[in-house]
Amino acid sequence: MGHYLIVGATGGIGSATARLLAAGGHRLHLVARDAARLQALAGELGAGCSVADAAVPQELAGLAAAAGPVLDGLLYAVGTLALKPLARLAPEDCLQDFRLNALGAALAVQAALPALKQSPGVASVVLFSSVAVRQGFASHASIGMAKGAVEGLVTSLGAELAPKVRVNAIAPSLTRTPLARGLLASEPLAAAIAALHPLQRLGEPGDVAELAAFLLGPQAGWITGQVIGVDGGRSTLRTKG
Ligand SMILES: NC(=O)c1ccc[n+]([C@@H]2O[C@H](COP(=O)([O-])OP(=O)(O)OC[C@H]3O[C@@H](n4cnc5c(N)ncnc54)[C@H](OP(=O)(O)O)[C@@H]3O)[C@@H](O)[C@H]2O)c1
Repeated sequence: MGHYLIVGATGGIGSATARLLAAGGHRLHLVARDAARLQALAGELGAGCSVADAAVPQELAGLAAAAGPVLDGLLYAVGTLALKPLARLAPEDCLQDFRLNALGAALAVQAALPALKQSPGVASVVLFSSVAVRQGFASHASIGMAKGAVEGLVTSLGAELAPKVRVNAIAPSLTRTPLARGLLASEPLAAAIAALHPLQRLGEPGDVAELAAFLLGPQAGWITGQVIGVDGGRSTLRTKG
């Protein structure tokens, strides 16, 4: 059985992945900011947990000691979704998106690396990009830049850490999680966005968690340096017109 560190563990995708891994008998160390929600999930799953803010490098660095000396994988499931047209983007908007999506991912890997290298097998890192990197959308300049950086990180670290650690990312389209709550607050808008997907629906956390759990485990032992879409076909298919 593996031992996995999940940063952003109480979120829609993080918690769905944590539940899948726990059901498979794996040991988990969970990380988020809200202590009450984190402790409730850790209690439910029999996991360890640490409160930390991924925007604070020292707090990420402290996770190494908390998670223990051996890790088989890291899932970094923290992200932002603050959409603005370019004319209204402030430098701090872009820096915050970069800080949480890209720099936080890099620093989480850095903190976990000594323990990942102690894995008896090939350890696995799973990060998150977005459909908005391969398919351009208006008002996505900042998040597109930040998630594009995650994709660069995947190939850079995939090369740097091979053959001891595999590094991959998942690029979801709009998925029903707390992160997307604002966009999905209007049911007519949610239905209109769902209809833009060739598979005619929005993502559910479990759609993404299934791939995350697979990529973390030894079944994915020959997959590294990849960005894999879980997007109802939105990034690659056109079914109308
Ligand atoms: N949902 C989508 O439509 C969608 C689409 C494309 C890509 N993604 C990507 O998928 C990943 C998971 O997203 P999600 O939808 O599951 O998000 P979510 O439901 O909002 O969950 C985010 C998780 O991260 C934690 N978190 C947020 N800010 C943090 C911080 N500064 N430090 C530490 N933990 C923090 C949250 O808990 P606390 O608030 O307690 O810290 C929560 O556990 C993200 O990288 C996101 O960009 C999602």
